Amino acid sequence: MSNLEQGAVKIRPMTRSDIHDILALDRKFGKANTPLGYKDMVTTDPGGPLDMSFVAEIGGSIVGFAIARLAYVMIPFAELCIIHSILVDPDYQNRGIGVRLLGKLVEHCEEEGINTIRALVEEHNDELTRFFERLGFNRSTVINYDKTFNS
Ligand SMILES: CC(C)(COP(=O)(O)OP(=O)(O)OC[C@H]1O[C@@H](n2cnc3c(N)ncnc32)[C@H](O)[C@@H]1OP(=O)(O)O)[C@@H](O)C(=O)NCCC(=O)NCCS
Repeated sequence: MSNLEQGAVKIRPMTRSDIHDILALDRKFGKANTPLGYKDMVTTDPGGPLDMSFVAEIGGSIVGFAIARLAYVMIPFAELCIIHSILVDPDYQNRGIGVRLLGKLVEHCEEEGINTIRALVEEHNDELTRFFERLGFNRSTVINYDKTFNS
């Protein structure tokens, strides 16, 4: 895959007006077990005080995003940045965009004095697992237990 020209990709904070483009990109990818919806995006509160999400743009079009949020969790109590979702347009993958999105997030966390980033990854998503491990993320010792019921 060819390298992208220097400066072709702009990484910037996500805003509310990006919601439609983010959802469209998620639909284009089409492989997520649980596709993003408006509720997810509104809950993320793009541009809000706890939001730490970024988008990658080429020529004004969004080609990737990382949805992340500051969170306070127990066991033990910690302030950390949680990555809920990261996606690069399949037409633009393997050109360094994912690495740059993550790099921008790390830089932002450093500026804010947050020293832990936790990525939520579906267990069998080998692509994402490899991506995060290559970037120095280690498997966490916190295990999630979910209970779901019809409401
Ligand atoms: C995982 C994912 C985010 C990675 O994004 P990406 O932009 O393709 O990743 P990058 O290009 O930054 O890095 C991938 C590889 O390209 C290489 N690369 C980095 N910069 C590069 C550049 N400028 N030119 C060419 N290759 C480059 C990286 O070294 C890496 O190589 P490696 O695989 O040998 O380590 C992307 O593949 C994706 O969106 N996958 C689907 C994720 C998913 O399932 N999301 C569900 C919702 S959470």
